[in-house]
Amino acid sequence: MKMGLAKTKGSSIAMLPSYVPALPDGTERGKYVAIDLSGKNLRIMLLHLDGSDPPRSNTVNYIVANHVMKGTGDQLFTFIVNCLQRFLQEFGLVDANLPIGFVFSYPCELLSIRSARLLWWTKGFDIKDCLQKDVVALLEEALEMNMSTKVNIKAVMNDTVGQLAAAAHKYGPECTIGVVIGYGCNSSYLEKTARITKFDAKARGYDHENMIVVTEWEEFGKNGELDDILTQFDREVDAASVHKGKQLIDKLCGALYIGEVVRKVLSQLVLDRVLFEGQSCEKLDEVESFPTKYISEILGEEEGVFKAARRICEELEVEMHGTADYIILREVCDVISRRGASIVAAAIAALLRHLELSSVKIGVGGALIQFHPTYHQMLKEKLEELTPITMKFELVPADEGSCQGAALIAAVAERLKL
Ligand code: BGC
Repeated sequence: MKMGLAKTKGSSIAMLPSYVPALPDGTERGKYVAIDLSGKNLRIMLLHLDGSDPPRSNTVNYIVANHVMKGTGDQLFTFIVNCLQRFLQEFGLVDANLPIGFVFSYPCELLSIRSARLLWWTKGFDIKDCLQKDVVALLEEALEMNMSTKVNIKAVMNDTVGQLAAAAHKYGPECTIGVVIGYGCNSSYLEKTARITKFDAKARGYDHENMIVVTEWEEFGKNGELDDILTQFDREVDAASVHKGKQLIDKLCGALYIGEVVRKVLSQLVLDRVLFEGQSCEKLDEVESFPTKYISEILGEEEGVFKAARRICEELEVEMHGTADYIILREVCDVISRRGASIVAAAIAALLRHLELSSVKIGVGGALIQFHPTYHQMLKEKLEELTPITMKFELVPADEGSCQGAALIAAVAERLKL
């Protein structure tokens, strides 16, 4: 992390400046829109900041089609604009020219709070003609081509910045770290601008004491740091991914991948005749036949209850299965989840040491925090083990955080006249 703050190259953790100088302080008022693109989901939210707690919001989810995820930039941004248009029509806001916060949760180099150059795609996206381009400019071009009204993009950010902003709004100024454990896994935190030594604040006209830094810690491992812990199953999942060799932390911890890791382990156990008493299970050889939601369902059952495990074995088309198999299924789901949570805990512990804060709240969110029944507890336990006793921390969840936080950051940008 220190190396990433000092140099633009060399560290596997990029520590990217966000140009966001402050978190919401509760004084923000008005209506704001957020557009949040993450994986297959495009979420659009209207946030009403009128002093009510929690703030009122309306959200609509849209699904990005597979061919769009691997198509052209024009297709993707036209899709986003069409969804936005529908959304604004539904709420009668087509002419309101509301400020918008745009969450783009892929690694980007920011050139200002309104300009983000895409470094590479993650989470299954592969749209080559967007690489190295400013995604705000692409969005604005698509808006101009397709919409009769003007909209006002106030800020672009990584989802972890949104997560942090939403948690800070909910839990107060002690919350200065945001962690997303969703399809991928990443964090951001409030840093002293002077400590981002690679960032020439004067030359960039940035005169704020603080700035949120996006760690992009999911790239830890690219210089071989994780070679000792990668298993044959991890290597197979990596080899089959769209971004081979990249985003290893996502592949060990993220919801997009851990179902696949479990599937590979189970498939090996079938081959070893440990699972299903040696009956074959062809389904387990099919990619994505063990989605991550199965892990949550299996671990969500009380010990000794195997309703979900039984149903999943049926869905996997195994002819005969019994308690011994369900216990193995549960154990594998637990081990793979626990390993992921332990790695995230190690990353958070490293960040806490870097920050040397005596007391901090960590805003956590993303699919695994929201839907995995034991994740939060596992993360907390491991973090307690890894953090010096003098450091007090609290993991505070903010569901739907990134989207709400983006609208809040748009409000901060307006308040600070950025
Ligand atoms: C992306 C990050 C993002 C994280 C969580 C990763 O795949 O590279 O930019 O913050 O997922 O969504």
